[in-house]
Amino acid sequence: MNAKTTTPLLSLDTLFIKTYGCQMNEYDSGRMADIMKQAYGLRLVAKPEDADIILMNTCSIREKAEEKVYSELGRYRKLKLKRPDLIIGVGGCVGQQEGERIQQRAPYVDLVFGPQTYHRLPELVKKIRRDRVRLTQTEMPEIEKFDHLPRHQGQGVVDCVTIMEGCDKFCTFCVVPYTRGPELSRPVADILKECTELLSDGVVEISLLGQNVNGYRGLGLDGEVWDFTMLIYAVAELDGLKRLRFSTSHPMEMSSELCQAFAEIPQLMPYLHLPVQSGSNAMLKAMHRGHDRDTYLLSIEELRSHCPTIALSSDFIVGYPGESDEDFEATLDLARQVVYDAAYCFKYSPRPGTPAAHAEDNVPEALKDERLQRLLSLMREQAKAGMERQMGRIVEVLVEKASRDEGDMQGRTSDYRIVHFRGNERQIGQVMPVRIIEAYGQSLRGELMLAGD
Ligand code: SAH
Ligand code: SF4
Ligand code: F3S
Repeated sequence: MNAKTTTPLLSLDTLFIKTYGCQMNEYDSGRMADIMKQAYGLRLVAKPEDADIILMNTCSIREKAEEKVYSELGRYRKLKLKRPDLIIGVGGCVGQQEGERIQQRAPYVDLVFGPQTYHRLPELVKKIRRDRVRLTQTEMPEIEKFDHLPRHQGQGVVDCVTIMEGCDKFCTFCVVPYTRGPELSRPVADILKECTELLSDGVVEISLLGQNVNGYRGLGLDGEVWDFTMLIYAVAELDGLKRLRFSTSHPMEMSSELCQAFAEIPQLMPYLHLPVQSGSNAMLKAMHRGHDRDTYLLSIEELRSHCPTIALSSDFIVGYPGESDEDFEATLDLARQVVYDAAYCFKYSPRPGTPAAHAEDNVPEALKDERLQRLLSLMREQAKAGMERQMGRIVEVLVEKASRDEGDMQGRTSDYRIVHFRGNERQIGQVMPVRIIEAYGQSLRGELMLAGD
């Protein structure tokens, strides 16, 4: 027997992906699955114990998310002790930021990669299996990873398309510019092609994704640079598209044309996530957000002048270094003035490598907690009132899937509220009139309006 012969490699049949973080990470996990299916014919499984490869697509936006990665890795370590051929990869924003440190802390991790290198997964996995090495790939290549990804099969009736990635805004608290790299916009033709393919698969609602979608500046169909508004007019014209959404927008780039688009494009749904972070000018300045309180409020006013029914949501950070009681009161005051339909509220946590991490994290934890609770209770009140306002209304619901309760279907209103109602699976993909009969904190209950109602 040849002395060089090593034990045969186990076959690669199954893949498990654990995803943390934002919608962009969800999208990326889908693409990782696509590319691994194409290269190895892998089948996605729902449990890590059934997988030959485990990939984690991580998020490092806040402290706890990162710790979650290490505790989850502890679980996978036990699986690997039983099956040494199991491949464990850590991708996403923690992968990008931590790089080799992950393998120092968790030596059983075979592969660390970043958001801009996942198109190389097949060759990396091949090398790991062949040479039995551990690899780290966290550079940000110039080439467009999108050119290397296989065609994506639309999932269900609602799906996403990444239109731009990265961020050049450098808010002082945020890791994204370091983990995702600079703003990079895909050409309009590529975006339209991906949308058209999804529509031909039966998708009827598309969300355009980016860290700052309204910072989009991509190569247009006429060879000129197109901005985000030009792009959404083009996407909205695609045959078969019933609904169009996008996320996330930056207040600094809310142009009048974009506000107006909500009135002019029937497919563009009346819901906007426009994170403000703080209502205090001093904090906005310290955070390097690039706009002040009044500019934000003016954008909201302009949006509502074009689309009075638009639902709004925001992200908030409490306890940023130096935040005084007055600063925090200004945030509450701004929220009262705007009246949101939903909000995501966070306690500031210092992130390694960000400018704010050098400032003293000087708002005591107990005060951060107290502020968070006060803000959350105001936001819950506003969200509840928003839901209760829907009572008795007849709203258009895009039916997405069967809900957990037998005989119930689930979908969303144009302003992004979840509605449950008695229905059947043939209704999936249709926009149907539903009368709202109950309002809960996070969802609504309705009854389908039948002909003659
Ligand atoms: N691009 C988007 C948001 C991306 S991150 C924007 O500019 O608005 C999502 C949210 O996480 C942010 O809006 C912010 O509220 C929160 N966040 C980011 N870094 C944080 C930190 N260090 N501590 C607490 N919350 C943070
Ligand atoms: Fe982070 Fe600011 Fe960029 Fe949003 S705009 S991703 S908060 S740096
Ligand atoms: Fe998290 Fe990276 Fe998204 S840090 S929020 S996964 S861009």
